[in-house]
Amino acid sequence: MIKKKKILSILGSTGSIGVNTLELVRRNPDKFRVKALCAGSNVRKLATQIKEFSPALVSVKDEASLKALKKILGRGAGQRAYKITLLCGEEGAKKAATMAGVDTVVSAIVGAAGLVPTLAAIKKGRVVALANKETLVIAGEMVMKAVRKYGAKLIPVDSEHSAVYQAMKGHKKKDVKRIILTASGGALRSLPLSKLKNVTPAQALKHPNWDMGERITIDSATLMNKGLEVIEARWLFGLNLDKIDVVVHPESTIHSMVEFCDGSIMAQMGSSDMKGPISYAIGFPERVQGAKDPLTLSGKLLSFKDVDEKRYPALNLACHALTLGGSAPAVLNAADEVAVSAFLKGRIAFTSIVKVVEDVLKEHKVVKVKTIKDVISADGWARVEATRLIKTESKRYK
Ligand SMILES: NC(=O)c1ccc[n+]([C@@H]2O[C@H](COP(=O)([O-])OP(=O)(O)OC[C@H]3O[C@@H](n4cnc5c(N)ncnc54)[C@H](OP(=O)(O)O)[C@@H]3O)[C@@H](O)[C@H]2O)c1
Repeated sequence: MIKKKKILSILGSTGSIGVNTLELVRRNPDKFRVKALCAGSNVRKLATQIKEFSPALVSVKDEASLKALKKILGRGAGQRAYKITLLCGEEGAKKAATMAGVDTVVSAIVGAAGLVPTLAAIKKGRVVALANKETLVIAGEMVMKAVRKYGAKLIPVDSEHSAVYQAMKGHKKKDVKRIILTASGGALRSLPLSKLKNVTPAQALKHPNWDMGERITIDSATLMNKGLEVIEARWLFGLNLDKIDVVVHPESTIHSMVEFCDGSIMAQMGSSDMKGPISYAIGFPERVQGAKDPLTLSGKLLSFKDVDEKRYPALNLACHALTLGGSAPAVLNAADEVAVSAFLKGRIAFTSIVKVVEDVLKEHKVVKVKTIKDVISADGWARVEATRLIKTESKRYK
């Protein structure tokens, strides 16, 4: 039987996940084809991708990026030669997410900006390879309702959730005692606590095991990323918080585990290369041969330890936001996006990232989240509040 090529729409094509996805397409032209690309403002990289993958539709963040992209494409062969529809903004991203003829939408925009296009793809009943964890963090209950209502399929790209997804295959949810998400501990895991305050962005961006975008790398150093992943897992797998554990596993060899009621633990292992979980999601239900380098087992150590709450207060804070429910996780996420960006610009200390998020959350009056407007409103409030606090309390956060 001749298998049909999978047609992809890649949202966030210029980012770390997007580039890895395109590498898989490049290596497997018989399996995948790109129909739509969506990115932010890195129009140089996007133009190169357009030339190589010839998508039918391309969207960028805003008018300024669209103008810059048109200027680049206008040179040389000329834009018409590529026969593409060029769009921008949220509407453009939605068009890329819902384009006819697309089998799988790779949702890999960073941050809350990923929610609207991802939800649009879900409402079209698409298969979504979900890297944008923020979609489930900020609107998990609503998004999972839409998945059921529109018959969409969410396949996780986050390596931890991909591991759990794979380990659960063929098992009954009622037999799951708990899932165990592994955390590397991030770039600063060995630094004495007393030195954390003064770390530079360059230090915090040196992840020991994974090569990822800036926000997720900083979030890995604070462990906020694991907190967001706990919230993501809660909705994706429909498990309560008491069934989701986190363990520090510095080697990142085991990507996560599922413990069953009989005491058996299924662990999914592999090299630290996102092409593994991405290929699983875009190739599903087939596996993509040679998607990533094999893991050398000989001499490999596997070690585990409990999360040090003093070093990583972000994990408890994220679980607290999940327990508060309603708009709290959206506020947590938005405040973290602002705080991480402020740290990267040298405006606040590394240890103040979590303080800012905690302070914003304290000020927030939790409301129910029923519509996308409710999420956007909570997100917007948190961004304004976090920005205000960082400005007015600058001495305290430095
Ligand atoms: N990287 C990983 O290994 C990894 C692992 C697990 C999960 N994830 C999740 O995957 C998502 C992407 O992470 P990443 O590390 O790939 O991030 P990244 O490298 O920072 O890339 C982010 C992508 O989003 C695009 N973007 C940002 N704002 C946009 C907007 N308003 N409209 C359209 N596109 C926009 C960026 O475009 P420009 O660059 O052109 O501005 C870029 O293509 C995050 O949710 C992250 O938590 C990532």
